Amino acid sequence: MFETVTPPEPDKIIRLMGLFAADPRADKVDLGVGVYRSPEGRTPVMAAVKAAEQGIWERQETKGYVALTGDPGFLDAMRRLILGDAVSASRVAACGTPGGTGAVRQVLETVHRLRPDATVWISDPTWPNHPAIIDHLGQTRQTYRYYDAETGGIDRDAMLYDLAQTRGGDLILLHGCCHNPTGADLTRADWQAVAEICNRTGAIPFVDMAYQGFGDGLEEDAAGLRLLASALPEVLVAASCSKNFGLYRDRVGAVLVVTGEGKAQAAAQAVLAGMNRQSYAFPPDHGARVVQDILADEGLERMWRAELDDMRAVMQGNRVALASALRDATASDRFGFLAAHRGMFSLIGASPAQVDILRDKHGIYLVGDGRMNVAGLSPETVPKVAAALAEVLA
Ligand code: LMR
Repeated sequence: MFETVTPPEPDKIIRLMGLFAADPRADKVDLGVGVYRSPEGRTPVMAAVKAAEQGIWERQETKGYVALTGDPGFLDAMRRLILGDAVSASRVAACGTPGGTGAVRQVLETVHRLRPDATVWISDPTWPNHPAIIDHLGQTRQTYRYYDAETGGIDRDAMLYDLAQTRGGDLILLHGCCHNPTGADLTRADWQAVAEICNRTGAIPFVDMAYQGFGDGLEEDAAGLRLLASALPEVLVAASCSKNFGLYRDRVGAVLVVTGEGKAQAAAQAVLAGMNRQSYAFPPDHGARVVQDILADEGLERMWRAELDDMRAVMQGNRVALASALRDATASDRFGFLAAHRGMFSLIGASPAQVDILRDKHGIYLVGDGRMNVAGLSPETVPKVAAALAEVLA
C-alpha cells in the first residue's frame, strides 16, 4: 500500500524541530516551536503539577474508563476557567480532547458534519495546522486580513471589512489571546466589533484558546471570548492546557460549545460524545485529572497561578530585553513592537532567506515566516540574538 506513496512533508514548525535537534552546535538557540523555557533554558514540570500527580498516585485506585466526554469535574473546571460567569453552565456542552489540537480537530470535524457548506475563515497569517486540518477535512476556507507588518499591529479596518463578507453558518476562527504567529491581539473594541458582525451575518466564532494566562493574565486573556459568549447565541471553543499548565506531552485539551439551553445543549453534548467515540473513544485522563485537581484545591491553584505569573513575567522580560538590545543595536525603534506584543510569539519581519542565514550562520532558529518564540530567549542569548538580527535584517 505504501510503496507508491509520496511521503507528506511535515509542516514548517515540525520540520524546524528536526533541524534544530540535528544541529551539533553547542550555542544554537531554539526560537522555533512554542514551548516555554525558563531563564536556565528548561521546560520545567510545574510544582503544582508535580504535587497533583503525587496526589493522584497516592489516591487513584483504578484506571478504568471515565466517560466518552471526559471527567465532568475537569470539564466544569475548564468551563469556569475559560468562560467565567459569562454564560450559565446550562448553555455549555463540553468534551475532553487529546490536547488543543485534538479540540481544534473535533470542532472543525463537527462543523464539517453538521454544516458541510460552511466556509471557515482564518486570519492571515495563522498557525499552520489550522489550514492543514481544514484542508484535510475538505472544508472550504478563506482568509481574513489581520496583521499589519508596517505597524506590528492589527489591520483593523481590513479585518472587519473581510469578516463582514461572512455568511450565516460560516465559522470565524479567532485566537483567544497571544495570536500565533503574530503576537498582535484584538482589543476589547475589536472583539465588540467582531461580535456585532457575527450578530449581523450569522457567522459563528470559533475561538482557539491555546495560551490563556500567557498574555496579560487568566481573566484578561479570556475577556474577548467571554464578550462573544455573552453576546452571541453560539460560540465554539478549543482550549489547550499544554502551555498554561506545561502539560505539553500529556495532551490535555477541551472543546466548549456555547449554545442554547435545553435541547440544543443536550444535542451538542451527544454530538461531542459521538465525535470522541469515533475518534479515540475516551480522551486521555491523567493530565486532565491533574488540571482538575489543581483547580479544585485552593492551595494548589494558588501555587499554579503564581507559577503561571512567573512564566508570563519571564516572557515579557525577554520581550523588553530584546526590544531594548535591538534599539541599541539598530539605533532605531523599528523593533519596538516586540514589547507591545503578547504571548510567546512575534513576527520579527525576517524574509525566508534571512531566516535561513540566521540559522545557518548564527545557529538561531526561527520559523520560516519569521516567527520568533520569545520564551526561547534568555539573558544569556539576548545579546547574541539582537546582534545577529541587527546584522541580518539591516
Ligand atoms: C507552536 O505553534 O509552535 C505550538 O503550538 C506547537 C505546535 O504544535 O505547533
